Amino acid sequence: MGSKPLLTFPRWSNKAAVGVLVGLVGLPLYVGLLLAYGANPTSLTVGYQPVQPVPYSHAVHAGKLGIDCRYCHTTVEKTGMAALPPTEVCMNCHKAIFPNSAKLAEVRKSYVEGTPIPWVKVHDLADYVYFNHSAHVNAGVGCITCHGPIQQMETVRTVAPLNMAWCLSCHRDPKPFLRPRDQVTNMDWTPPAGVAATALGEQLREKYHVNPSTDCVTCHR
Ligand code: HEC
Ligand code: HEC
Ligand code: HEC
Ligand code: HEC
Ligand code: HEC
Repeated sequence: MGSKPLLTFPRWSNKAAVGVLVGLVGLPLYVGLLLAYGANPTSLTVGYQPVQPVPYSHAVHAGKLGIDCRYCHTTVEKTGMAALPPTEVCMNCHKAIFPNSAKLAEVRKSYVEGTPIPWVKVHDLADYVYFNHSAHVNAGVGCITCHGPIQQMETVRTVAPLNMAWCLSCHRDPKPFLRPRDQVTNMDWTPPAGVAATALGEQLREKYHVNPSTDCVTCHR
């Protein structure tokens, strides 16, 4: 008795010490892997092009037929979400155009049964990121800047990495990417001859009071 050492460690502390060691070595390793993974361009989603349940073509509808983006993506200027069109919008035309086409069988089925077409999401940010279409479109950032030449795509694919570095590079300096608000869905728009995109962008930035934030809470709330 009385020989009890002043400082004792319970038995489990041996295991805990191992745990701490693994943590000390493992955490930097884990962070390193995360960074390497994040910086590797092949891990980004550029070029992601899922197969859709209906062979709907933007090249035909937005390109050849020249239908404005907002005819189908009706909420893009008003809310955070761009919204996909309900089947009724397709049937405005396809009751009469190609009423028996096999390619439109899923569309007719959806219309008759009242169930939405199960479109596969192409662009999909992680849930911890907040994005808002109307804020961008009303500041004069065109669809083509983030989505590329959609009007030429048979099947939509992603053209931008949609990662944090991509968002921030524009938030730090949006000037080169601004255009008049009424041109945001014009896929052929270019700055007037002799005017540099950056000079026009500076004018528009002042006119529309554009000042994108790089605070974390802007996108992580
Ligand atoms: C006639 C209706 C229609 C028009 C016009 C239209 N779209 Fe679409 N859009 C759709 C449908 C339906 C989908 C879902 C299927 C798909 O991804 O192709 C879609 C999907 C998209 C997507 C991918 C959404 C996702 O899942 O990430 C983008 C981006 C897009 N459209 C942009 C545009 C742009 C830009 C324009 C104008 C140049 C445009 N759309 C014109 C009907 C339309
Ligand atoms: C404003 C009228 C209009 C709207 C709205 C419209 N389409 Fe079309 N669609 C057309 C026309 C016109 C063609 C034929 C174009 C051509 O081949 O040159 C076509 C062709 C198609 C085809 C090819 C059919 C075949 O047999 O080749 C598919 C599939 C299609 N549309 C799906 C859709 C879907 C899905 C929607 C709704 C998201 C939609 N369309 C909305 C006018 C429309
Ligand atoms: C600043 C970049 C940017 C601009 C400009 C932009 N988009 Fe998007 N869009 C995105 C991102 C990012 C997503 C994915 C959002 C998510 O997953 O929460 C997206 C998603 C979409 C979707 C899928 C539905 C949704 O809201 O998630 C559609 C449709 C779409 N965009 C259409 C458009 C159209 C049409 C325009 C022009 C009027 C446009 N976008 C302008 C970046 C942009
Ligand atoms: C090409 C330029 C550009 C890109 C790319 C871009 N943004 Fe923006 N963003 C802007 C501009 C311009 C504004 C408007 C700032 C203003 O009105 O002062 C803005 C505003 C915002 C806002 C503020 C919205 C509000 O409700 O106040 C959020 C959130 C946002 N962006 C998130 C994102 C995210 C997330 C991404 C990447 C997925 C992104 N942005 C990519 C240019 C861009
Ligand atoms: C303009 C929008 C925007 C701002 C501002 C922003 N982030 Fe992000 N953040 C994103 C996007 C987009 C992603 C990637 C989401 C994905 O991969 O789907 C991301 C991802 C992350 C991740 C996950 C790891 C990674 O790198 O993919 C962390 C952690 C993070 N952000 C922290 C921050 C911090 C801290 C700040 C402030 C200094 C900040 N973010 C500011 C848009 C933003």
